[in-house]
Amino acid sequence: MGKRIWGQGELGARGKTCFKFSPLVPLSPCPLVSPAPSAPHSPKSMPTNTWNRHHILSLADFTTTEYDTVLQTAASFQEVLSRRTKKVPTLQGQVVANLFFESSTRTRSSFELAAKRLSADTLNFAAATSSMTKGETILDTAKTYLAMGTDIMVVRHREAGVPNAIAAEMDRLGVGVSVLNAGDGQHEHPSQGLLDLFTLCTLIDPASPRLELLKGKKIAIVGDILHSRVARSNIWSLIASGAEVHLAAPPTLLPKLFAEYISEELGVRNYSPTPQLFLHWQLEPALQNADFVMTLRLQKERMTAHLLPSLREYHQLFGITRTKLQLCKPNVKVLHPGPVNRGVEISSELMDDPEFSLIQSQVTSGVAVRMALLYLLGSGKT
Ligand code: NCD
Repeated sequence: MGKRIWGQGELGARGKTCFKFSPLVPLSPCPLVSPAPSAPHSPKSMPTNTWNRHHILSLADFTTTEYDTVLQTAASFQEVLSRRTKKVPTLQGQVVANLFFESSTRTRSSFELAAKRLSADTLNFAAATSSMTKGETILDTAKTYLAMGTDIMVVRHREAGVPNAIAAEMDRLGVGVSVLNAGDGQHEHPSQGLLDLFTLCTLIDPASPRLELLKGKKIAIVGDILHSRVARSNIWSLIASGAEVHLAAPPTLLPKLFAEYISEELGVRNYSPTPQLFLHWQLEPALQNADFVMTLRLQKERMTAHLLPSLREYHQLFGITRTKLQLCKPNVKVLHPGPVNRGVEISSELMDDPEFSLIQSQVTSGVAVRMALLYLLGSGKT
C-alpha cells in the first residue's frame, strides 16, 4: 500500500479569511440588457421580469433574486416535463448551439434536450470532428455559428475563461448572442451548481424551491476540490443560501491557495463575517451531522502531478460509503455531478442506493434547470 502523505490537521480556523488569491481567470461583470418581456408561451408564474443577465458565466456574482428566479422557473418547467406533451413553443425559431470543445455526456445531452423541449433548433458541435482539426480558432468557430443565426451559445472548454472570451467577442460585435458556460477548465460550471441547488431545494419543498431553504444546513463537499469547477460553482450558491459549507480533501487536492481564493472572493462580495466555510484535511469533521454530502470525481485529466499515493488509500480515507455516512444526520443524502468512478470517490453500493443517492435525480433536474436558463436568456430575444 502507498505511503500515507496526507496531514491529519484541519486547514484554517473558523471564519479566518486571511489569504490573498489571484483569480484563475480575469472575470468582468456581466453586461446587462433591458428586462425581458414575458414570453408568449411561458408556463405559469414565470418570473422573467426579474431577470436582466445576458450571459451565465459564473455563480460568483449571482444575487438571491436570480437564484430564486432560476429555482421557480425550473419548478415550472419540471411541471411541464411531467405532462404527457413535454414541450412548449417558448423558443420557437431560436437557435441554440452546443459548442463542446471538451467531452461530455449528461451536460451536453441535457442542454440539447432542454433546448428541444423549448422548441428551439439545436446545433451540436464536437471539437474532434470539427474544422478545428484543420486549424480553425475558437473565436472563428463561434463566429461560424453566429453566421448561421445562433441566439445562445452553450460553451464547454478545458481552458478556464473560454466562455468569457466568446461572450466578450459577441458583446464587442453587438449581436445580442448569449453565452452559457457549460464548464470551463477548473473555473466554474454554473448550470451544474444551479441544478444541484434545485435538487436540494426541491427535496425540502418540491412545490416552492427557494434559496433560503438551505439556510443552516450542513453540506460537505468531498474530493478533488482543487480541480473541480463544480465545487467552485456550488460554493457560491451554497454560501449565498446561508448553508454551512465544509470542504474535505487531502492537502494535495485542497491546498491553502484554495482557501486564499475563496476567502478573497468572499471578502470582495461582502459576505457576512459569520463563518460559513470550513476546510478540512480529514473527512470525519466534514461528515459529522451533515445534511448533505457532495462527492467529486478525481479529475485526473486536470492533474499535472502525481497527487495521490493510491486510489485504494484515497477510497479508504475519503471515499464515501454507507458506513461513513453514519456520522451524518440519519436522513443524509449524497450527490455526485457524474461521471462517477465507482469504488473511488463513492462506493458502488451507495451510488445505487435510492435511500441515500440523489445522483439520478440530479440528472433529471438538469433538464428542467437548463430549460429555465435557456428560457431566461432567450425570452428577451424574440
Ligand atoms: C462535471 C464536469 O464535467 O465538470 N461533470 C458534469 O458536468 N456533470 C464533473 C466531472 O467531470 O467530474
